[in-house]
Amino acid sequence: VPSPYAIRTFGDPVLRRKCEPVDVIDDTLKQLAADMITTMYDAPGVGLAAPQIGVSKRFFVFDADDGKGPFTVINPRITRAEGEYTFDEGCLSVPGLHFPITRANEVDLTGTDLDGNEINFSFTGFEAKIMQHEFDHLDGILLLQRLDDDARKKAMRTLRERQLRANG
Ligand code: NI
Repeated sequence: VPSPYAIRTFGDPVLRRKCEPVDVIDDTLKQLAADMITTMYDAPGVGLAAPQIGVSKRFFVFDADDGKGPFTVINPRITRAEGEYTFDEGCLSVPGLHFPITRANEVDLTGTDLDGNEINFSFTGFEAKIMQHEFDHLDGILLLQRLDDDARKKAMRTLRERQLRANG
């Protein structure tokens, strides 16, 4: 089965928009989440947020490859963030580039699942990184915005050069 959605990439305005809360969990949303999980696995990736398929709503899917996922988290909130963890991070919407980014090492996250039940997660390290990265997407924040000025300028230059080459 081909991926139902093309993943939006850097430059698409939907990626910089703050998403609206989900107020109804219906069959359309459930299908969207299922299709996002397929798209995430096909990519392949460990997380995918709704704006990455052009939907400006507050939910994301993830599978930390720990045998427990995939999960869909609707209207997530980060309720605790502690410590520091640095990881060479990438994003399906900024393909081919990786940057060392420091985020919280421990994160508690609460939200709603597709049955409308409250779900709570406590993660450290790599999994905590996924939560914070996907949560950022819902606020229109790409990993480029987490870089210091010099690193961001360099990354933007690389992206511009790549766009020029792609346009011939
Ligand atoms: Ni991403």
